[in-house]
Amino acid sequence: MSNTIDNLLHEARRFPPSDEFAANAVAQAELYERAAEDRLGFWADQSRELLHWHTPFTRTLDWSNPPFAKWFDDGELNVAYNCLDRHVLAGDGDRVAIHWEGEPGDTRTITYAELTAEVKKAANLLTSLGIRAGDRVAIYLPMIPEAVVAMLAVARIGAVHSVVFGGFSAESLRSRIDDAEAKLVITADGGWRKGRVFPLKDAVDAALTGEATTVEHVLVVKRGENEVAWTEGRDLWWHDELALVDADHVAKAFPAEQPLFILYTSGTTGKPKGILHTTGGYLTQAAFTHKNVFDLHPESDVYWCSADVGWITGHTYVVYGPLANGATQVLYEGTPETPHPGRWWELIEKYKVSIFYTAPTAIRSFMKLGRQHPQRFDLSSLRVLGSVGEPINPEAWMWYRDVIGGDRTPIVDTWWQTETGAIMVSALPGVTTLKPGSAQVPLPGISIDILDEAGTPVGKDQGGLLVVTEPWPSMLRGIWGDPERFTETYWSKFGDKYFAGDGARYDSDGEIWLMGRVDDVMNVSGHRLSTAEIESALVAHPFTAEAAVVGAADETTGQAVVAFVIIKQNQLEQAEALDVAAELRKHVAQQIGAIARPRDIFIVSELPKTRSGKIMRRLLRDVAEGREVGDTTTLADTAVMSSIQAKLS
Ligand code: WT7
Repeated sequence: MSNTIDNLLHEARRFPPSDEFAANAVAQAELYERAAEDRLGFWADQSRELLHWHTPFTRTLDWSNPPFAKWFDDGELNVAYNCLDRHVLAGDGDRVAIHWEGEPGDTRTITYAELTAEVKKAANLLTSLGIRAGDRVAIYLPMIPEAVVAMLAVARIGAVHSVVFGGFSAESLRSRIDDAEAKLVITADGGWRKGRVFPLKDAVDAALTGEATTVEHVLVVKRGENEVAWTEGRDLWWHDELALVDADHVAKAFPAEQPLFILYTSGTTGKPKGILHTTGGYLTQAAFTHKNVFDLHPESDVYWCSADVGWITGHTYVVYGPLANGATQVLYEGTPETPHPGRWWELIEKYKVSIFYTAPTAIRSFMKLGRQHPQRFDLSSLRVLGSVGEPINPEAWMWYRDVIGGDRTPIVDTWWQTETGAIMVSALPGVTTLKPGSAQVPLPGISIDILDEAGTPVGKDQGGLLVVTEPWPSMLRGIWGDPERFTETYWSKFGDKYFAGDGARYDSDGEIWLMGRVDDVMNVSGHRLSTAEIESALVAHPFTAEAAVVGAADETTGQAVVAFVIIKQNQLEQAEALDVAAELRKHVAQQIGAIARPRDIFIVSELPKTRSGKIMRRLLRDVAEGREVGDTTTLADTAVMSSIQAKLS
C-alpha cells in the first residue's frame, strides 16, 4: 500500500486547460477569490443567481445549533418549479430535457415542456392518492423517464422520496419502506438488464407480504410487459391513473428546509442510514457544481451521467443538478455491454454527448475489454469527462483521457458522498492544471482539511483524515429518525468538523489525494457496502456460526467482498453435501442485493480476535489480498492465523 501511495504522489504528468477551453469556461479563477473573501455571501449570490425563489431568503446560514444546519431558511421555493416550469416560462420548453434510450433500443425524446406536463399530472395523481407534504414515497424503478417524473412529482408537492436502487432485494426494500414509513411505492412491472426483463413488482409484492405495512398503494409503471400479480385496491397502473387526473398543477412554494429526500447508505453497523437532504441548500449546490465542474453550456451541451437514480450520483447529477440548469441529457436504461461491448460509445456518437460522467470501475472494465470497442465510434463531441465513486488510478485516468477523450478533454475527478449531497473536491476544468489520480482542490465556498488522529491539521506531503471544516449548503441535515447516530457518526471525532470517513493526503503542492475509507465501509464498484451488514446477512443463514467480511483490493471493482465463515458444528454434514460457498453467496444476494454478493467465501474454523473479542479484519485483509500477515501480537490466540492460512493453501 505505501509503495502505491509513493508512486501516486510522484505522478508527474500535468494537463493545463487549453487557452480556448479556459477562455470559454463557465467557471473562472475569480470564483475562488469571491468565495474566500465572503463564503456565505458567495453561496447566497449563487443561490439567487441559479434558482428561482418564490420568497427570497434574507438569512444564509443558521449554525446556532450545530451540527444541525439551516440554509436560506426564511426563503421559500419549489424544487420541481426550478427544474421544469421556469425553463418553459423562459422560452426553453422545446429544448430536449431527456434523450432516453431503453436497453432493447427503443427511444423517447422528452422536451422540458413535455416533462413539465407529465410531472404536473403525476403531482395531481399523488395528491389524489392522499400524499401530502412531508409524507414519504418509496420509488423502486428502472432507469426510465418515469423515475425522473416520479421524483419530481414527489418534490413538487413537498413530499419526500426514498429511491431504492432496483438491484436491491425485497428485504432491503422492506426495511427502507419501514424505516421511512412510506405510504406509497412507485415501481414498474420490470425493467431491461443484460438482454432480459428483471421483475420489480414481484420484489415489491414480496416486500409487502407478512406483517402489516404503512404502504397504502403501489403504483406500477408498465415497462417490462412481464406478468405481474395484482392486489386489488392496493395496486394501480400508473398510465391508467394518469389518464384520469387534471393536467394543470400550480407549484406551491415550500420552506427552504422542507425535506426533499431520504437516501439509504451503508454505515459501519448493520443498519443502513437514511441520509436526509432538504431543498434550498441542496438545490443550490447541486446546480452550482453541475454547472461549474462540468462547464455546462445548457444551450449547446449534451450531458450524460451513467449513474442509476438509485444512488446519490443519480439524484444530484441525473435529476436535480442538470434539470435545475436546463441541461439536455441522455438517460440509458441498461448495461454498458448490451447488446455489444460498445453500447455506451455508440450512444455518445448517436446523441453527440459533450459531457460524460462515470465511475472508475466502469473505465477499468472497458480498459480490460480493449480500446477497439470505443474506437469504432466517433467520440469527437466529448469535451469534458468526469469521474466519481472511488479514487481513479493514474493508468485508468490516462486511458480515459486518451481513448475516450481523444487526448484532448479535461477529466474532473470529483470527491463527494451521499452525505455531502454534491461535489466537494474537484478541479474546475477551465482553471485547474490537472493531475491524473488526484481530486485536487476544494470547490469555491467549500472548506476542507486533513487532520491527524489528534485533530491537528497535517502539512504538505502528509496524510490523515479528511474533514469538512465549515457547513456547506447541500450537507445532510441528519439521519432519518436517528439524530444521535448523526452526531455520533460524523461529529463526535473532531467536534465541530465533519468527519467523512476517508483517508487523504496532501501532495507537495498542497493538493488532495483520496486514499480510501478508514472505517468498516467497503467501496465495491463505487458503491458503498458495510462489512457489518454483509456479516449479519451471512449469520442469518442456518449454516453460519460466525462470519467476518473484509474489502480486498480488486483490479476492476476497486474493492471486492471477501468473507470468512465458520460453519456450525451440527450443520457441517449438510453444508459439506452442498457447495456451501455458492449457497451463502446466493443467500447474501437474496438478503441485500447482487452487489453485496461476496467474490470469495472461505470456510474457516476460527477467526482472529483480540482479547476483547474484536475481529481483526486487518489480518484477514492480508490473507484475502495474498500478503504476508502483519503483526499478530494483539490476538487472543496467535495460532489462529496459521490455522486459517493452512486451510486456504
Ligand atoms: C465514498 C462515498 C459520491 C457519489 C458516489 C459514492 C468514495 C467518492 C470519490 C473520489 C476517491 C471517492 C469515498 C466516499 N469516493 N468519490 N472521486 N475519489 N474516493 O457515494 O456511496 O456515498 O460513497 O465514496 O470513499 O466516502 P457514496
